[in-house]
Amino acid sequence: MLTKHSKPSTLNNMPVEFISLAFPNASTELHPLPNEPAVDADFLKRYARNLDDYGFDYTLQPYDSGGADPWTMGATIAAVTNNLKVIIALRPNTVSPTVAAKSLATLDQLSRGRAVVHFIAGGSDQEQAREGDFLSKDDRYGRLEEYIKILRRAWLSSEPFDFDGRFYTIKGHSNRVRPYGGRKSIPISVGGSSPEAYRIGGSLADIFGLWGEPLKETKEQIDRIYAEAAKAGRTDRPRIWVTFRPIVAETEELAWEKAHKTLDALSAKTQLTPKISPASGTPQNVGSQRLLEIAKKGAVQDRALWYPTVTATNARGASTALVGSPQTVIDSILDYVDLGCDLISIRGYDNLNDAIDYGRYILPGVRAALKEREQTVGNAPQSEPVVPEMVVPKGNEEVVHSRDSS
Ligand SMILES: Cc1cc2nc3c(=O)[nH]c(=O)nc-3n(C[C@H](O)[C@H](O)[C@H](O)COP(=O)(O)O)c2cc1C
Repeated sequence: MLTKHSKPSTLNNMPVEFISLAFPNASTELHPLPNEPAVDADFLKRYARNLDDYGFDYTLQPYDSGGADPWTMGATIAAVTNNLKVIIALRPNTVSPTVAAKSLATLDQLSRGRAVVHFIAGGSDQEQAREGDFLSKDDRYGRLEEYIKILRRAWLSSEPFDFDGRFYTIKGHSNRVRPYGGRKSIPISVGGSSPEAYRIGGSLADIFGLWGEPLKETKEQIDRIYAEAAKAGRTDRPRIWVTFRPIVAETEELAWEKAHKTLDALSAKTQLTPKISPASGTPQNVGSQRLLEIAKKGAVQDRALWYPTVTATNARGASTALVGSPQTVIDSILDYVDLGCDLISIRGYDNLNDAIDYGRYILPGVRAALKEREQTVGNAPQSEPVVPEMVVPKGNEEVVHSRDSS
């Protein structure tokens, strides 16, 4: 039988894949363990193996100026896993493009084709200054554009090459380490929500990373990215990666109870941490500004997208939750698949346990629904798109924002 999600499971012929994060120690946002070592090798390996065993396709190794190094963490993860692809978050100010080209190609060889790079132009002047980068945000995006072009040249060029740009001048670079298996490039991802992010990601990236916004706003962003791809003369377009923090329990009621407990703990913590409290002012990156604006429209949007976690953390990083039973979260993810998102990033607040729960209940559910579609599509007429039903939790009725009321 055709379900309400009756479109094909793949767009651009790419499969729907899952991303999560592997953390270097047992400390979490809600339960910080200040006395833990910053990097616990056994914990990291166990975490990575769980992601691999439970069927995640990728792990992002994020970047911040004071955190563990994504390159060495990524290499360790690749060494102890079989299928998990490692996404190295990379700020161009931290390493020269020719060094990054060799490091990524080396990781790709060592992992037999499992390296991916995710670019961060840099969303905060203050954070960039912590590592000696004083370029304006516009210039950071200009530098990123040159950086990506140099990476691709270094991976492709069999001859020594020169590069003469505004930010980089290179003479006679030659790179003997190529991506694994004759690939011409390692997948390049760009994240952000500013016009410059759309332009550079749309014109140059293989993947474009977004934070979780409602369906309407996500569709608007996808259209902007695809328009930039077309403007650049591309015949393909970037895959779309969308990010959520699901709060899942056996029933809707239990999930909402858990969500409110999570929110209380988050609020208590952020009030004690001036840097991330809502009183710390408007974040400089457009992605966070958008999340905070959307949060004003209502606590629950679409089927189960929950915004109080955004407001409580001043939209610091990926912060929109999907709340509900496994079926509600599966259906919500399928709504985004229908929009064209085929890379679904999910991580929770109880990092490792949530990743295992998703691996047990969410990934198999989404994959089974997609398989069912594949079997039915082609045999049956396409149904009209169906507006998802909202699962309205008790006590949230007054703050629900209808998709049609914006
Ligand atoms: C999926 C995704 C992952 C991200 N990972 C990181 C990260 O690891 N470290 C970081 O500083 N910023 C990260 N960012 C933030 C943006 O890349 C950053 O704010 C951007 O450089 C500027 O954003 P803007 O164009 O929206 O203003 C991520 C963004 C997205 C969408």
